[in-house]
Formats: sequence, structure tokens, C-alpha cells
Amino acid sequence: MNVRIRDWQDKRVWLVGASSGIGAALAKTLIARGARVAATARSQDALDALVGKKGLAVAADVTQPDALAAAYGRIRAAWGGVDVVVYLAGTYKPQRAWELTVADARRHVEVNLMGVYHLLPLVLPGLLAQKSGAIAIVSSVAGYRGLPNSLAYGPTKAALINLAEALYIDLAPRGVGVFLVNPGFVETPLTAQNTFRMPALISAEAAADEILRGFARGEFEIHFPKRFTRMLATLRHLPYALYFPAVRKSTGT
Ligand SMILES: NC(=O)c1ccc[n+]([C@@H]2O[C@H](COP(=O)([O-])OP(=O)(O)OC[C@H]3O[C@@H](n4cnc5c(N)ncnc54)[C@H](OP(=O)(O)O)[C@@H]3O)[C@@H](O)[C@H]2O)c1
Repeated sequence: MNVRIRDWQDKRVWLVGASSGIGAALAKTLIARGARVAATARSQDALDALVGKKGLAVAADVTQPDALAAAYGRIRAAWGGVDVVVYLAGTYKPQRAWELTVADARRHVEVNLMGVYHLLPLVLPGLLAQKSGAIAIVSSVAGYRGLPNSLAYGPTKAALINLAEALYIDLAPRGVGVFLVNPGFVETPLTAQNTFRMPALISAEAAADEILRGFARGEFEIHFPKRFTRMLATLRHLPYALYFPAVRKSTGT
């Protein structure tokens, strides 16, 4: 569905949300495969330690469009542009309906969703002019349907799935790939706060490998681990009368 990306040698890759977890693992793997990696997140120290002298550590808060634009300006000044952009910045706070606050909801929307809208106008003109390259958006299987503890997080991830689909329709015919990444549970600082058992939990390194395998296959949706995400894909198509009892049973809520 997308042009396959197999050879990362000298590819200019911008990872947004790369100071820890899946983004950091992806940065290390890509550097090992010869890519030029620009890493963005809020913590400059973590980015410096991650990419060292081999890449660009460009700190920015994705909720601040000017800061993100300045980060992209530094990348463009160094490399002239980018080939692949991966949006991984995300925040997650598990909460039930009676714990939800407006501030929490707003933070999820700002980081998980609005950050992409801040990013797209920066990178799209260059990618469209090149008629090549790709944008990958890391959403989640939590965006498929409503799940417990996901009142602020889930809707942002559902929106990202819809956004990636709409982007694909516009960009693929113009030579720019769009990849939607939907992980299951990955062991990272983000999920460390979960107190429930996470089925089919995988490491951040395994997640990075899955993402690169998906790029190599040119898949629009890269989802993993399949033993978990296939089950959620089935749940996605159940009628509500079956979906809600199945979720209650499998999550104990
Ligand atoms: N772990 C999972 O099981 C799982 C499952 C499905 C989807 N995902 C998604 O995968 C992505 C990566 O998550 P992860 O699990 O690797 O968690 P993580 O280790 O917490 O990584 C989140 C990244 O986002 C960055 N970030 C957060 N707020 C930011 C902001 N305002 N501006 C710039 N960067 C910001 C963080 O860096 P700073 O704090 O330094 O800014 C960090 O680099 C997220 O979108 C998450 O929703 C994760």
C-alpha cells in the first residue's frame, strides 16, 4: 500500500517523541541501520544521551507550535529536509469516568493529537515537493473502540487513526507514504503506571523491530503483537450487545 522502506542507510528520519520507550528504541535501531536520526522530545539531556554525535537532538514541546517549528528549522538547516517523520509523542493517564478532569483531557488532546497538527504543516510542503518519503503516526489499539481507563487517551488515539486514513487518501497518490502504527502493550514508562495485567506485553526494542518490519512491507497499518492485536481487531467489529460484555469479561471491569 505504501512504498516499502527497507534500506535506512543515510535516510533522514525525524522521530518526534523519542526520549524514552518506543521512540528511543526506534532511534537506536535506526542509527544502527545507518539512518540519520533527529530526535525530539522535551528533555534535551535524554536526547543528547540517545543520539550523541551521530544524530540531531532537537528538544521541543509538541504543544508549542513555535518550538516545534524551531526544531524543524534546525533539522532543515542541517540536512535540507527529512525523508521519514514518525510521531510518537504521547501521554497517558489511566482513569475511570468519575476521576476525569478537564485538565487531564486537555493535556491528552494537546500532546497526542494537536501535536500532529503542529507537525504536519512543517513537514508536508517538503515531502510533497520531493514526491517521496513518509509520515508515520503512532496511535494505539486503544483507538479502535472504547476501553476502560481510556477516557482521555482513547479518543485521541481514535482521532489519530481517522487522521492517518484521511492523510493516506491525500498523500499516497502524491508519492508520500502514510503509516499508521497501532501497538498493543509495550513495556515503557507510559505503561509502567498500569496496575492491571497487560496481556502480550512486549519490549520497546521488539516494538521498534515490528515497526521497521511494517515499513519494509509497506503496510498502511502496522499493528503488533499480532496475538493480541488480532483479538482486538475482532472485537472491533462486534455489535455493541456483544462488545460490551466481552470487554467486561476480559478486563474484569
Ligand atoms: N507503551 C505502550 O503500550 C503503547 C501502546 C500503544 C501506543 N503507544 C504509543 O506509543 C507512543 C510512545 O509511547 P511509549 O510507550 O514509548 O511511552 P514513553 O516512553 O512515555 O514515550 C513518550 C514520548 O513522548 C514524549 N513526549 C511526551 N509529551 C511530550 C511533549 N509535550 N512534547 C514533546 N514530546 C513529548 C516523551 O518525552 P518527554 O517526556 O521527554 O517530552 C517521550 O519521548 C505514544 O504515542 C503512545 O501513546 C504506546
